Amino acid sequence: MKSAVSLPEGTQDRLFEECQERRRVQNALTRLFQSRGYREVSTPEVEFYDLFIQSGSPLPQEQLLKIVDRSGRILVMRPDCTTPIARMAAAKLKDLSQPQKLYYDQTVFRSAHHHRGSRGEIAQCGVELLGAQGLEADAQVLTLAADSLEAAGLSRFHIEIGHMGFFRELTEALGLSRRETETLRDLMEAKNYAAFTDQLTPYQDRAPGRALYRLPYLFGGAEVLDEAQSLFPETTVIPYLRSLYERLTQAGDARRFRFDLGLVHQIDYYTGVIFRGYTHGAGAAVLSGGRYDNLLASFGADAPATGFACDVDAICGCLRETPADLEQSGGGRRLKIALTKGRLQDKCVELFERMGLDCEPVKHPGRRLVHALPNYPLDAVLAKAPDVITYVEHGVCDLGIVGKDTILEQGSSFYEVLDLGMGKCRFALAVKKGTDFYGTYKTRRVASKYPEVTRAFFEKKGMDISIIKIEGSVELAPILNLADAIVDIVETGATLRENGLEPIEDVQQVSARLIVNTASMKLYKDEIMAFIEKCRANLGG
Ligand code: PRP
Repeated sequence: MKSAVSLPEGTQDRLFEECQERRRVQNALTRLFQSRGYREVSTPEVEFYDLFIQSGSPLPQEQLLKIVDRSGRILVMRPDCTTPIARMAAAKLKDLSQPQKLYYDQTVFRSAHHHRGSRGEIAQCGVELLGAQGLEADAQVLTLAADSLEAAGLSRFHIEIGHMGFFRELTEALGLSRRETETLRDLMEAKNYAAFTDQLTPYQDRAPGRALYRLPYLFGGAEVLDEAQSLFPETTVIPYLRSLYERLTQAGDARRFRFDLGLVHQIDYYTGVIFRGYTHGAGAAVLSGGRYDNLLASFGADAPATGFACDVDAICGCLRETPADLEQSGGGRRLKIALTKGRLQDKCVELFERMGLDCEPVKHPGRRLVHALPNYPLDAVLAKAPDVITYVEHGVCDLGIVGKDTILEQGSSFYEVLDLGMGKCRFALAVKKGTDFYGTYKTRRVASKYPEVTRAFFEKKGMDISIIKIEGSVELAPILNLADAIVDIVETGATLRENGLEPIEDVQQVSARLIVNTASMKLYKDEIMAFIEKCRANLGG
């Protein structure tokens, strides 16, 4: 039994200054919303599960925190504020004059990822502008979003603007199926340049294909709009974004806004302009929002809508940054990269040396853990593969080099920008030599260091197996008759051979990838793109 003093995953107590700081940010935001004519609403902390399923909730089901009520109905702790407000507005505000300007100061609840430092309770302050569309409405909400981060006390941030319509225009012009579009959208969102480019090879000779190909790189200042327009002159979305930018410039400081035409978040939910706020010190967006014109219709009240939510605790975390941290994040910032210890380490050093980087500190690390490279603004950290992902996801390292095997196992909320083509190996299903793995009806036991990869592989086959997680030398499991097979990395095949095992099926090829924290990519674009290009130019040695 858990100790009486422990708390559920992703939750925490807050005392004194922490409460004060949170309250100060909440007050600053809600005062600002009121001053712009928004009125407060609140919805229950629990809702029916069906509400989020029927309305096409943007959150995956496993993130919903569920409760069963006395009559056996499934309830969820409010996982986002917009869906319940849309439900409420459709039922209770439909006869009121439009537009309706609503704001909230509420907590959302998510099922936190075990041991990954994710939060299960997120304090959000946000607005919903219902019944308004067009340039004025979009500009008004974007200006309010930027003003909110300023009011909360952040001085260095920007709002990144995208539009669902540009991606749609391009995929429709190519006549892509829904499935092809979804695949591209997923790769695009992960900035998985390598796989994204492969998917587009057949469309390279057509303008929308070439525009899609460039899409992952179309982020930055208003100049990206020019490039997008020249790549696909038929677009109606880019002229709209240009007018929006002009309108934002008239309304205030346009330097607060940038564009990311590759923002293609949750295609079924968002319908037009979509945006996120990034600031120094946060590894992920601290504000997110966009236009969702179809949501109210799913509750029987057809009205356009847009809005955003600020992540109050993430903002408070950034306000706690020391002045030295902020100084560090000035122009020409030193980047931090996490390198995978062991086999990949030597390959990384080889690559870096081809790039002209002096790697002496990494080659002779001693007991030091952070190594400043003398002739490039880069600090290297050596870490175990899963930790590389953790450091990059949390934004404490901007970049990482890690095997695709670990990415497949751990999932990814970062950009996977380059297949480095090194550390090539494969996942394989292996058994004791001469065993007929498939020739029996009993539930097979498969041992692996990679239970998620193993589960996904057999799930695709529609096969029910029992998985045993092993931490190292997984080959022992079949030898000791603990398992019928293993799913593991095979490089030379020597380990399998020497232990009387043989591969019977390939699961997937893997190699090392360069990964980038999502916020770092936006905040230090020049430094990071220069590093990516330098890597790309020196691959394959
Ligand atoms: C990996 C893998 C195999 C071995 C395969 O283990 O789990 O055991 O390498 O390589 P081969 O095909 O060239 O023989 P690793 O050496 O990374 O050590 P680990 O078991 O501690 O993870």
